[in-house]
Amino acid sequence: MGNVNAIWERLIHQYEKKRRAIPFDFKNTVLENLGERRSNNYPHYIHYYPGKIFPYIPIFLLSLDELCSPSGIVLDPFSGSGTILLESIINPVDKRNVWGVEINPLGRLISKVKTTPLNIESTRNILKQIFHYNRSLSNSISLPIPKFKNMSIWFSEKAIKELAKLRLSIESLNTERNHKDFFWLCFSSVIRKVAKADPFIPPPVLLKPYKYKDNHKKYKYVQNFLKNAENPDVVAIFETIVEKNLKSISALNNIKDVRSKKIKAKIIWDDAKDIKFSRLAERGRVIKTNNIRPLDSNSINLIITSPPYLTAQKYIRTHKLELLWLDLLTEKELQRLDKELIGTEKVSLREVDFDKHIGIKSIDRLIKWAIAISPERAALVYKYFQDMQQAISEMYRVLKGNAYVILVVGNNTVLKRKIKTYRLLTDLAVSIGFREILVLKDNIRGRGMITKRHNSGGLIKEEYAIILRKEKS
Ligand SMILES: C[S@@+](CC[C@H](N)C(=O)[O-])C[C@H]1O[C@@H](n2cnc3c(N)ncnc32)[C@H](O)[C@@H]1O
Repeated sequence: MGNVNAIWERLIHQYEKKRRAIPFDFKNTVLENLGERRSNNYPHYIHYYPGKIFPYIPIFLLSLDELCSPSGIVLDPFSGSGTILLESIINPVDKRNVWGVEINPLGRLISKVKTTPLNIESTRNILKQIFHYNRSLSNSISLPIPKFKNMSIWFSEKAIKELAKLRLSIESLNTERNHKDFFWLCFSSVIRKVAKADPFIPPPVLLKPYKYKDNHKKYKYVQNFLKNAENPDVVAIFETIVEKNLKSISALNNIKDVRSKKIKAKIIWDDAKDIKFSRLAERGRVIKTNNIRPLDSNSINLIITSPPYLTAQKYIRTHKLELLWLDLLTEKELQRLDKELIGTEKVSLREVDFDKHIGIKSIDRLIKWAIAISPERAALVYKYFQDMQQAISEMYRVLKGNAYVILVVGNNTVLKRKIKTYRLLTDLAVSIGFREILVLKDNIRGRGMITKRHNSGGLIKEEYAIILRKEKS
């Protein structure tokens, strides 16, 4: 085993000399120096989520003495499906309490379930209750079905009926929230398996098998997929998912401090631009009562986060069918939330005032250049950096003096031009009061993590970990 702290020292030394992003292999460094491997041994894969961070990045960073004291609190203000939350509570060197903020309710539910240990036997007993209730529902009763347009385009009649029965069976459970949330998440995982949506495209798009006719293997697969969606055995699919997820969740029980709840992950809020301290109700809903307080200034010891990409992911739309079936959002709310995301592609020219500059030379130059080619695209870029300015200022506010923030970002292409997003975000952070300490660069494996968008979008191939420190205020 090597010493990760010695590696850190070496990197800092090297960066001080060259001030250029250092190529760094997080996975191999972790395998060789910490002996940690992530496959299905922890619940990272209990539910699909686009744009997840590579777990080896937080494993390495959370193992460094310099970045956070052993009892410090870690925050991820864009916690998505909770990769960093999970890695914080299971870290091989120091296990730490961690708080998350995430705007997508399904992301919050995944994070919560992924980090909550469960008694396996009692969960299996509750599963029996679900099946018992499900069997008792007669086919003739009228079942509550979520209201959304074109339900019958996405789901066969059989799928709708069986999903509605299963949903009612979970709803009727008289059990505590952690178990119920676990089953809600398993229910959510069933949705895309029985929908007539293309399994190779993250946001739901009607599956048209002939599109794949030139690829024999894929063509057969999607034909089969569609056949199953017409006549699915929802309960059997659900049971398989429950068993698979239980197996990975049970790994949390092997960690004493997590099992005893001494170390916990908590989702505290939904908007990174204005962080408050609250908690979750069932199904990942944030409790928003009157007496919610802002998260204390100077209270957090370390922030690690992968912010949304500049117009490269559709976090809400990807989960449209799940969000509707879980009754987390109506179609109208879904559209509204889609517009509120940082990195949204739905910005109208009326919403931006190009005369009000962001105030960072490199970013304002980019926006000016984009306005000349396409004011509509320029508006997305403007809104992204305006929102990120607010979010990074909020990170600055809640962090303790001398504490670190690590932003993990990819570059992208705007109007066919390669943009060094990591450099622009570093400039933004420095203007807010952070000091640039180190930039590491790793190659993204697994193209499934990213979605290619409109023609001027582009695949993100490298990830940068920007390490910054709040100058003591
Ligand atoms: C790159 S993803 C994070 C992925 C996460 N690290 C994981 O492994 O699952 C960025 C996340 O930022 C969320 N997001 C976008 N705007 C937000 C906002 N204003 N406040 C909080 N989260 C937001 C998106 O919903 C998305 O889940």
